[in-house]
Amino acid sequence: MKLFHHLFATIALTALFSTSAVAETKPAPDPGVKLFAYERGNRLFYAWNADGLDWHMIDYGWVGSDYGSWFAEKKMHDPFLFHDKKHGMWYCIFTPNPDDPVFALVASPDLVHWHVQNYYDMEKAPRNLIPHISVCDDNDSYCIQWCNANGMPEGNGLSTEDFKHFTKTEVGTKVMDPRQTVKLEDREWKGTIVTVSKAELDNIIGYKKEHDRKESLKHERVTADLRLPRNVRAENLSAGITVDLNRTKDISPILWGIFFEDINYSADGGLYAELVRNRDFEFNNLDHGEWNALTGWSVPSELKATIATDAPIHKNNPHYLVLESPASKEFALVNEGFRGMVFRKGDSYFFSVFTKNPDNSESKLKVEMRDEQNQVVASGTITVKGKEWTKTELKLTASKDTDHGKLALIPSGGKVALDMVSLFPEKTFKGRRNGLRPDLAQTLADLKPRFIRFPGGCVAHGNGLKNMYRWNRTVGALEARVPQSNIWDYHQSAGLGYFEYFQFCEDIGAEPLPILPAGVSCQNSFRDGKGQQGGIPMDEMDEYIQEVLDLIEWANGPADSKWGKVRAEAGHPEPFHLKYIGIGNEDLISDVFAERYIMIIDAVRAKHPEITIVGTVGPTYEGSDYEDGWALARKHNIPLVDEHYYQAPGWFLNNQNYYDTYERGGTRVYLGEYASHNGSRTSTIETALTEAIHMISLERNGDVVAMASYAPLLAKEGDTQWNPDLIYFNNTEVKPTTGYFVQKLFGNNAGDRYARTAANLMNRDRAIPDNDEFAPLRKRFASSCVIDSKTSTVTIKIVNLLPFEVNTALKLDNLGPASVTAVKTVLSGNPDDMNVRPSEPETITLMPSNTVTVPAFSLTVLSFPVK
Ligand code: AHR
Repeated sequence: MKLFHHLFATIALTALFSTSAVAETKPAPDPGVKLFAYERGNRLFYAWNADGLDWHMIDYGWVGSDYGSWFAEKKMHDPFLFHDKKHGMWYCIFTPNPDDPVFALVASPDLVHWHVQNYYDMEKAPRNLIPHISVCDDNDSYCIQWCNANGMPEGNGLSTEDFKHFTKTEVGTKVMDPRQTVKLEDREWKGTIVTVSKAELDNIIGYKKEHDRKESLKHERVTADLRLPRNVRAENLSAGITVDLNRTKDISPILWGIFFEDINYSADGGLYAELVRNRDFEFNNLDHGEWNALTGWSVPSELKATIATDAPIHKNNPHYLVLESPASKEFALVNEGFRGMVFRKGDSYFFSVFTKNPDNSESKLKVEMRDEQNQVVASGTITVKGKEWTKTELKLTASKDTDHGKLALIPSGGKVALDMVSLFPEKTFKGRRNGLRPDLAQTLADLKPRFIRFPGGCVAHGNGLKNMYRWNRTVGALEARVPQSNIWDYHQSAGLGYFEYFQFCEDIGAEPLPILPAGVSCQNSFRDGKGQQGGIPMDEMDEYIQEVLDLIEWANGPADSKWGKVRAEAGHPEPFHLKYIGIGNEDLISDVFAERYIMIIDAVRAKHPEITIVGTVGPTYEGSDYEDGWALARKHNIPLVDEHYYQAPGWFLNNQNYYDTYERGGTRVYLGEYASHNGSRTSTIETALTEAIHMISLERNGDVVAMASYAPLLAKEGDTQWNPDLIYFNNTEVKPTTGYFVQKLFGNNAGDRYARTAANLMNRDRAIPDNDEFAPLRKRFASSCVIDSKTSTVTIKIVNLLPFEVNTALKLDNLGPASVTAVKTVLSGNPDDMNVRPSEPETITLMPSNTVTVPAFSLTVLSFPVK
């Protein structure tokens, strides 16, 4: 590749292209306008200038960096905008981190939609250097070089024909300063000036206007002070709901499910019933700032505690504790669990520990369950003998209640080595050993989820490649599982692993939906991934793909197959009947991602056509990951994709038609994460009912939306990284939110057929006009009707977000009998109420025509048998 052109050559070429474009597009010559592209707040902004005098700012960041860890770490420096006329694409190249030898490249066909952000390696970090693209001498390829502020290129450049493959080139010539300066609102900005057509500018401005309109709708609140249209009084408003039980369509029978992720201490310290914190002495500063192998343990100075690594129980669990104690007096090593241990009088607890005696002598270890005042609640003694690891178990029964108990271990003198110190309540959900906290598990079971997605979320793809959640490291003997740091900044023991997830699914009749990393780590990673989404090296992908296939064998294979045997040895010889596998979690749709994702999907399809694959389409309901994820799914016929959105109540209120126009017959949707978020990130009647109104639309679209799960599910008080959550808890209480009761009402009243439902508001018994003035009323009232063909039950759900009750005439076309006995349940309150519970179910008689009164701010559920 020859030397670079300088800037003048670039401009001359631009002029040449413009001239020929003018010739072809007669008779309307478009002189074009200048567009200035520059970085503001780490995003690419534009300003335009049509008359050579005034610059007009467009207040919108068109594309931002997705390199580096969350939020403020994602930087964009010195973006350079370039039009590749040959392929009709715009490219923006920028430096995501001046100290990382990486450059970022993002492409757009129209300067509005920016697609696939990729990061490419450089020889050295571009500190103080500015990227610049020009047409190379051969007129066929493009040259990228990095220049200093004087425009002098430094280091090697790159040439490319397709902006995907790059070849190293010799140093280029001076380009002057590759950036130009424009003064906007009294401040000078540096960026690139390009020429765009008037039509292109109109498209940009039009998009921004539409974006602003949509954004403003998000601010709409559900409040008591709704302004009614002129001449309308609340008392004159009524509603009519017509349900035609003979006009139905199939909808997904597994629409409502849950998503369990170990966030907010949901697993260790939460659903996983283990009481000892850091039982394996594997905590470290990757888990959380100052943590170390003794975090969670109190060691009195008289006891010498050493963390050892020679000859551990298992290589996956390399650290253990060696205690040296005087024989003369008793001193206790204490663990207070996750904010205290709860013991209940008469309940039994299994204590277990691996011990060895490094001196090959014999000693005793007294085990005490104590209350807050150090009174002994239960105790026992074990013998520590021999140089080999031995597991010992004791069953201890509590003599009194305590909410702040602890475990004390008192060595009798000499040296003793300990690992995997466990205290586990006998009472777990369904009495499973190594099982789940019964009250929490029951609260989840009460939702009647048809599926459970696990383990993430971000936990699935992890903080860097080494932190991905690898399913096969979480099954088998507890001491051989691989604990690791949790992306939410704590420790994951893997005690609640794939076996326990699958068993829980089976226990509550839910389909397991495991999510496996798509061969890339989280795009917000800051470890082992060059500060971004890393990809498993290609020469390791076969091994990784085999691991994905092994999961299917582990879940479904015969008990004598390689992986089926592992399941059988854990006590489950029968298959788990896995039907779904998710690949990826809201990943950045980069080339690194797409290549690995499709490799995995193809391999699963080839070997297991019976498994339904769920793909991923980014973290929100629009934007490049959403668009590119959907394009990939359509191209590769992926049966389902996982959409996510956390939005303001106003978004849910104004997007009830979101799925109405989704294409039928192709890829369907798994709405894997959603929640209505108000400014204070609390769960109120407003957030819960805006979720409910969206769920009504999901039922209506249950032919294209196959599954949905709220997120996050659980949060431990005091250990919460994310709000709001569906269920809060502490060690003794479970505190479901109002949103939980909405999910429960839908989960307990689900169907597999949707009956055509028309809900209309009326003013003085006449339909309200279909215009903007009445839109705020119309969108606050919605209804859906589903039929459960297994139980022959019909359920009508009505959401009223109006600040007054509405008399609702129900018209049940083709009901059959003259009347039916229905069960009515109502959830209602004021918009800011946080502790609302549904009413006790009430029995009412329903006839083909009936009137029910639905309260202000409410969800009403009517359910009745059908012939
Ligand atoms: O639900 C919490 C997090 O939100 C999930 O881990 C992630 O997928 C999303 O960003």
